[in-house]
Amino acid sequence: MRFLSLSIGARALLIAGALLVAGATRADLPADAAINAAAPLQTMQPKVIVNSGRLEWVPYYRDLTAWPTLSHQDRRSTPRPRKVKLDAPVRGDPARGRDLAMRPDKGYCIACHQLPGEEWPGSVGLSLERYKSYGHADELVFQQIFDARAFNPHSVMPPYGTFGILTVEEIADLVAYLQSLE
Ligand code: HEC
Repeated sequence: MRFLSLSIGARALLIAGALLVAGATRADLPADAAINAAAPLQTMQPKVIVNSGRLEWVPYYRDLTAWPTLSHQDRRSTPRPRKVKLDAPVRGDPARGRDLAMRPDKGYCIACHQLPGEEWPGSVGLSLERYKSYGHADELVFQQIFDARAFNPHSVMPPYGTFGILTVEEIADLVAYLQSLE
């Protein structure tokens, strides 16, 4: 399946990015990177303990070594924003898209956005309930998820495509999901 036109340069960058992800180890991190040596590359997510007024923090694993840290010694550069152009109509699977939107190891869109049927959304981003009613073109929605920096250089939304967090097929599934929300 082919969705995107990428220049040769962009393809080379993608391959370099994939190698970086595969090749990076904890040893490549700057000496002052603030990570817990006892729990390397482990992030935590909150889980509500029903009727207790308490949260439990459960670990999930995501290898963070590919991304620049906040360390002053970290000289690795951040991939530049990328514009996408779709060659073919988006044909994603809304059910798979919903799953990706909820999963902490994938989109985890629910951490920032309200989506139907979820009781504990984040509020950093706007509500995406009834998203279809905005009537946005698929290409625009695809770009927002692929690399939101194309519209807002200071977006806090992760550049899912440029950073290789999600594949183009997965982003197509998310577009199909959002465009199905009436
Ligand atoms: C860290 C928080 C965060 C996460 C995670 C996040 N977003 Fe966003 N999103 C935002 C913010 C903030 C905006 C407002 C525009 C901007 O700053 O880019 C936004 C804007 C959007 C928009 C544009 C809405 C519009 O029409 O104006 C869409 C669509 C969107 N997000 C979808 C997603 C999807 C799908 C995911 C998961 C794959 C996701 N977001 C994950 C924070 C987030």
